[in-house]
Amino acid sequence: MASIALSRVAKTYPGKHSNYILRDISFDIADGEFVVLVGPSGCGKSTLLRMIAGLEEISDGEIRIDGQRINDTPPAERGLSMVFQNYALYAHMSVFENIAFGLRLARVPKAEIMRAVQAVAKMLQLEHLLERRPPQLSGGQRQRVAIGRAIVRKPRAFLFDEPLSNLDASLRADMRVEIARLHKQLGATMVYVTHDQVEAMTLADRIVVLGPSGVQQIGAPMALYDAPANIFVAGFIGSPKMNLVPGRVDQHGRLRIGAGLALDWANPVAAGEAVTLGVRPEHLVPDARGPLAGTVVLVERLGAESHVHLEVAGLTQPLVVALQGPPPPLASSWAVRALPGRLHVFAPDGQRIDASPGTPADAGINPNGFPEVA
Ligand SMILES: Nc1ncnc2c1ncn2[C@@H]1O[C@H](COP(=O)(O)OP(=O)(O)OP(=O)(O)O)[C@@H](O)[C@H]1O
Ligand SMILES: [Mg+2]
Repeated sequence: MASIALSRVAKTYPGKHSNYILRDISFDIADGEFVVLVGPSGCGKSTLLRMIAGLEEISDGEIRIDGQRINDTPPAERGLSMVFQNYALYAHMSVFENIAFGLRLARVPKAEIMRAVQAVAKMLQLEHLLERRPPQLSGGQRQRVAIGRAIVRKPRAFLFDEPLSNLDASLRADMRVEIARLHKQLGATMVYVTHDQVEAMTLADRIVVLGPSGVQQIGAPMALYDAPANIFVAGFIGSPKMNLVPGRVDQHGRLRIGAGLALDWANPVAAGEAVTLGVRPEHLVPDARGPLAGTVVLVERLGAESHVHLEVAGLTQPLVVALQGPPPPLASSWAVRALPGRLHVFAPDGQRIDASPGTPADAGINPNGFPEVA
């Protein structure tokens, strides 16, 4: 297995030289670590994986595997396996041959190939499909063949580009568990791109959040969830999305939102500055005397929980509240409060402001969520 180190990696495409797809990307992946890359569509996740794999030239910076610079090492000599977003299987070969391909190239003895392919096929429920060719398979079945082809080669590290995005929900959950098990079993280094919040949160040792201006935050899933470094990460990690509400600091240093709501807030932001207050839907709880009162404008029932959209005077967008119990009726009056310690405040430049220790703000800002100011 292998460690991977990216140092100031950049990518431009020919003819677009002033236009960096990726710029100044630096982070290390430890031997055996499971790192998940997330970010909006088009931010360069696939490009970054392809550069690590050697399928895309590195415009600037350096990539090292186990300390060795591999910028100019051909893909086949990097010892990595990649599973692509679009499968990239050989259409004219059977499933068996597709999975066995890398082993054949490496001149592995026939009996051993037989055994290895059978084992992988069993694990991925492909045994009955080994004689078929990819055009005769469903999308999900093709994806499993692609995963099988990567696993069977026992690479130094795995690169996964949204490997489960075409599977149905149940198979996807099974495969997620399977990949977690595989990671444990092989102790393999894995770099995994996904749009799926559950995959990112459950599989990752660390998540790397990529945004329009490069790496936004790197950390353990719960660290990103509990303390997003900026508004971008706050809005990106977590489902349903964090409520982000514009606010303003008044001359008493209090943070005001909506119509007449304010927080005591010992913070380094100057009076008059526009800040953003964030609170996750699951951290708002019903409370008849709660300070956030308004009208229920939409209820989304998901089975186990409901998402209640609450229109509050002075807020431009309804607050979303994730609720376990029965939801309030549509158009009814309803009120909530925030759980202590669950409010996030972001400075005008979008960066998180942490409450200074010993202030009321630190004690969960205040136990009631938002106190109303007379
Ligand atoms: N060969 C190319 N020439 C020019 N631009 C390209 C080329 N390949 C990709 N791009 C651009 O690079 C950017 C990053 O693409 P990439 O596929 O890495 O994004 P992504 O983060 O994987 O997106 P998604 O989540 O949709 O898969 C996009 O704006 C894309 O249009
Ligand atoms: Mg992609």
